[in-house]
Amino acid sequence: SEQALQAQFDERIDANGRIEPREWMPEAYRKTLVRQISQHAHSEIVGMLPEGNWISRAPSLKRKAILIAKVQDEGGHGLYLYSAAETLGTSRDQMLDALHTGKAKYSSIFNYPTLNWADVGVIGWLVDGAAIMNQIPLCRCSYGPYARAMVRVCKEESFHQRQGYEALLVMMQGTAEQKAMVQDAVNRWWWKCLAMFGPPDADSPNSAQGMRWGIKRISNDDLRQKFVDATVPQAKVLGVTLPDPDLKWNEARQAHDYGQIDWDEFWSTVNGNGPCNKERLGARVKAWNDGAWVRDAALAHAKKQQARQLK
Ligand code: 3HC
Repeated sequence: SEQALQAQFDERIDANGRIEPREWMPEAYRKTLVRQISQHAHSEIVGMLPEGNWISRAPSLKRKAILIAKVQDEGGHGLYLYSAAETLGTSRDQMLDALHTGKAKYSSIFNYPTLNWADVGVIGWLVDGAAIMNQIPLCRCSYGPYARAMVRVCKEESFHQRQGYEALLVMMQGTAEQKAMVQDAVNRWWWKCLAMFGPPDADSPNSAQGMRWGIKRISNDDLRQKFVDATVPQAKVLGVTLPDPDLKWNEARQAHDYGQIDWDEFWSTVNGNGPCNKERLGARVKAWNDGAWVRDAALAHAKKQQARQLK
């Protein structure tokens, strides 16, 4: 009976067990996983655009090779995550249609422009740093395919973060202009990266259920705090100032206090009114339309192959 299946599911979740694709799961559990995993995949694919813009402008062959590898990884993470979402019964076409029609979200951080080479380093250091912070706990997610995808993704993300930080270290040993470029990029990205972790717990409609189901293991605010505490010493080594006058160590809390995030700006960007939303979505829709002939050709070829096998 449904009750027995629900009881079995609850028991598995309460024991921190894994739910696998063919097993019974509440429709709401399936639905929230399709929402989160498909939007995570969209984030990876759209996330290729800001950095992709700098592959042809990288300052050296070495930096170009590293950036190509990183953008390629992001594409792979996206495809990995779309496949994980498909195990829940949704299709690639459905997910991509939701992205292209603006129904589905992707990480708002990708709706800001990459103005110069320092942005590429700051994206690696802070954006991928935040992404790692958020993705490590997802390795323990109760849904098997998502958790296993995260293990592979996190290994590659740590390379993404290190290459960004190293590129900034080199610039911070350069000219005064280069140091100023890095500081300016940090000023522009810092607060947006804090918002990446999602709204405050009190304003997070999905968190409570997500935590009960073992999908979200650490809350938005707790992950944000971990990120701030981990990044402050890195900024010191780099020699940059984090643009928050309220940022200071709180001995009693054994953590850093920090200032107010502009949530109005965050929601306005999430709702499509950020500086690059139209450009990013336009680029994805164009790529989809321009690639239609490749998909048609591949399907036609596959049909011929099948017909040949049946003879
Ligand atoms: N950008 C856009 N939308 C966001 C957001 C952000 N940074 N943070 C939250 N939201 C949205 C949520 O999707 C939700 O809307 P929805 O119900 O329509 O999906 C709404 O704001 C309320 O947020 P909640 O906290 O209630 O939602 P969640 O419990 O799902 O938590 C989350 C949000 C922490 C992003 C969670 O979905 C999650 O952990 N997702 C997987 C991780 C992910 O997507 N990371 C993207 C990082 S970028 C990346 O991976 C590329 C990197 O390699 C460079």
